[in-house]
Amino acid sequence: MRILFLGDVMGRAGRAAIAETLPRLKTDWRLDFVVVNGENATSGVGLSQAHAQVLLNAGADCLTLGDHAFDQRDMLQFIEREPRILRPLNYAKTAPGRGHQLFEAKGGRKVLVMQALGQVFMKRPFADPFSAVEGVLRSHPLGGLAAATIVDIHCEATSEKMATGHFCDGRASLVVGTHTHVQTSDEVVLPGGTAYLTDLGMSGVKDSAIGRDLQAVLGTFLNGMPGKFDMANGDALLEGAIIDIDARTGRAKRIERVREGMSGPAQNALR
Ligand SMILES: [Fe+2]
Ligand SMILES: [Fe+2]
Repeated sequence: MRILFLGDVMGRAGRAAIAETLPRLKTDWRLDFVVVNGENATSGVGLSQAHAQVLLNAGADCLTLGDHAFDQRDMLQFIEREPRILRPLNYAKTAPGRGHQLFEAKGGRKVLVMQALGQVFMKRPFADPFSAVEGVLRSHPLGGLAAATIVDIHCEATSEKMATGHFCDGRASLVVGTHTHVQTSDEVVLPGGTAYLTDLGMSGVKDSAIGRDLQAVLGTFLNGMPGKFDMANGDALLEGAIIDIDARTGRAKRIERVREGMSGPAQNALR
């Protein structure tokens, strides 16, 4: 089975790129299941109900969130009514919603998705992500009920993301990092059969500072004063990864980075 996971959607430009492009990609790339990280889709801070609907209507089968999960207050209620949206497993003991969920992919096969927040360099402390992920993996062995298991590790540190990939190796089909908005080039299928990529990148404006206006961000770096970072305007690109999974074993066969909207060598054999 073939899965597409798109990185953090940054504001209006990212939403528009997904609404315009994802329906075509689902057909052209014969996708069985699509996950989108939506934690920044509403002006860079959280995900509103209305904007979640835009991403779901475009063809996302599951939306993950992150440290910005509840920055838009209507998500506190909406997540209880919309099982396709996940917040991090270890967000807070009293958080509404779920951190993992079994979904049905095209053709009826089951896909397990979970998200955890890392602890290193994050602005707020969160509970241990490794024990949170361990609990879900133990109750859902790979090759069992779910044809694929997907782990979104949402954090700053590349080391913490990579450690999570190896921690899950042989027990998940895919471990991908989100949150830093810059795509890394270390995609690999680990020895136990888990596909891994340190960061998917973002769906947002190409010429920007991780999706925000370049001049605003640069101004703050140059004068040392806090500034208001508006969202960038301009052409958006979609970044993420496609993963082919053996649905009998749950092991990944290959992983390929996606940078849709860039000219150059991003296009290749899988599509
Ligand atoms: Fe984040
Ligand atoms: Fe983000």
